[in-house]
This record gives sequence, structure tokens and C-alpha cells, in this order.
Amino acid sequence: MTQSIALVTGGSRGLGKNAALKLAQKGIGIILTYRNNQQDALDVVREIESYGVKAATLALNVGDSSSFEAFASDVQKQLQQVWQRESFDYLINNAGIGINVPFAQTSEAQFDELMNIHLKGPFFLTQRLLPLLKDGGRILNVSSGLARFALPGYAAYAAMKGGMEVLTRYQAKELGARGIAVNIIAPGAIETDFGGGQVRDNAQMNQFVASQTALGRVGLPDDIGNAIAALLSDELGWMTAQRVEISGGMFL
Ligand SMILES: NC(=O)c1ccc[n+]([C@@H]2O[C@H](COP(=O)([O-])OP(=O)(O)OC[C@H]3O[C@@H](n4cnc5c(N)ncnc54)[C@H](OP(=O)(O)O)[C@@H]3O)[C@@H](O)[C@H]2O)c1
Repeated sequence: MTQSIALVTGGSRGLGKNAALKLAQKGIGIILTYRNNQQDALDVVREIESYGVKAATLALNVGDSSSFEAFASDVQKQLQQVWQRESFDYLINNAGIGINVPFAQTSEAQFDELMNIHLKGPFFLTQRLLPLLKDGGRILNVSSGLARFALPGYAAYAAMKGGMEVLTRYQAKELGARGIAVNIIAPGAIETDFGGGQVRDNAQMNQFVASQTALGRVGLPDDIGNAIAALLSDELGWMTAQRVEISGGMFL
């Protein structure tokens, strides 16, 4: 049987790494991207290979749409070299950064950086990768609980994530003709390096989030990696255009 392949952006650390490992544990081949941390990405590749599953890594700055054509041709080469295939099955638009700054102080440069990484990047990267995505394949975008509830300091970031939630419905509508299902996962606050690792490293913040979460703790990378693997399972192939929040019930 042909091995399915997932392309995970931002797979060197955090939620993307966890999702890549969980998908690989189900036998899915992985192309994971990194921005700066090539060694971390190579370590993830090695771990996946230790499961007997093929993996490759590529550099990508999702904030630089002028690089996407070259990136797509790198993806095509990896597909041919590592898997002898012309297409992949799952695209997970996960890469991203956090900038915590009040609305009144947000600069145009900060807004543009967040827009390029969290909205324009996934928009045009997905467009550029469409010819390589198999008919009947799946796209999973990544939003945030912050697009539903408001916490001071995330106006620009959350606005981009809200944009991705709208885009997800349009992609589902327009790509449905190719049998491609498109959904978006919205994690709550998770213990990763994101935003300087605040949720993980700042005890006060950690306790605050836990106290506002129905299930009584902050999220862990496993909570999201497992959910991503589940959302991309065959059993959920009829689900499209959906926002699925995985937050343990944050700010209900
Ligand atoms: N953690 C949370 O609480 C949380 C909650 C809701 C949503 N999210 C979303 O989940 C996604 C992953 O977050 P995370 O917590 O896993 O963050 P993270 O631990 O900081 O990891 C970020 C990943 O994205 C890559 N990356 C950063 N900037 C990039 C760029 N410009 N181009 C390409 N790749 C880039 C990093 O690569 P390098 O290792 O090379 O730097 C790394 O692999 C993001 O979209 C974030 O907005 C996170």
C-alpha cells in the first residue's frame, strides 16, 4: 500500500513537531519544515525514521511568499526522491509566532509580520502547493482560541487567525470539487515555546489559564498532536469547513 504523506509547516518544535510524531506513529510519511532550527528539525526526522517511517525536512519562511515557488519545487523533489511520488496527502498549516502587544501600541511592522506569517503566508503557500496535493487530500489550518475569546495583547494575532477561519470555509467550498476537505483546529493555551514560553514557564499565567479551563489545566503538546492525527483520520473524511476548538474548555 502507498504510504500517505503529510506536510507539516513549523515541525521542528512545539505543536507541529508533536503532530508530525503522532502522524508518523500512524505510519504517515512526513515532510516537516523549520525556519531557523535545522538541527531540531533533523532530530525530529531521525525520531520518525526510528519508527520505520520516511521523513524529510525543508527550510521555509512562511512569511515570505516570494520563496514559495522554490519551496514547492523542493517539496516536489523530496516527494520524488524519498517516496517516488508526485503528490502528498495532508497539508498542516501550523508554523507561526506570537506577538503580545496591546491594540493601541501595535505597530504597522508588527501587524505586517503577523499578517505575512499567519494569513498571507498560509493563503499563498496553500495556493502554490495545490498542484502537489492529491485529489481527495486534506488541509488542516491552525487557528487559536483567541479568535473566539479576547485576551488583551492579541488583537492583530487573533485577527489573522479569524481570517484563517473564514478562509477555511472558502477553501472547503472551492476545493471540495477535488474531494479535498479543509478544516481548522483552534488550540487553547498550550505549553510550548510560543510567545516566549509564557504559558509553560510563567507559573502565574499557567495557574490563571488552568483556573479558566473546564478540564482544570493548561494544554500540553500531546493534546494537540493527538487531536491533529485524529482530525486527519479516515473516519473524519466527511468533515469539512469546520472549526474544532481543542482547549479543554477554556473561557466557556
Ligand atoms: N502554543 C499555544 O498556546 C498556541 C495556541 C493556539 C494556537 N497556536 C498556534 O499553533 C501554531 C504552532 O505554535 P507552537 O506553540 O508550536 O509554537 P512554537 O513552539 O514556537 O513553534 C513554532 C514553529 O513554527 C516555526 N516558525 C516560526 N516562524 C516561522 C516562519 N516565519 N516561517 C516558517 N516557520 C516558522 C518554528 O521553526 P523554528 O524552530 O525553525 O524556529 C517552529 O517549528 C502557531 O500557528 C500558533 O499560532 C499555538
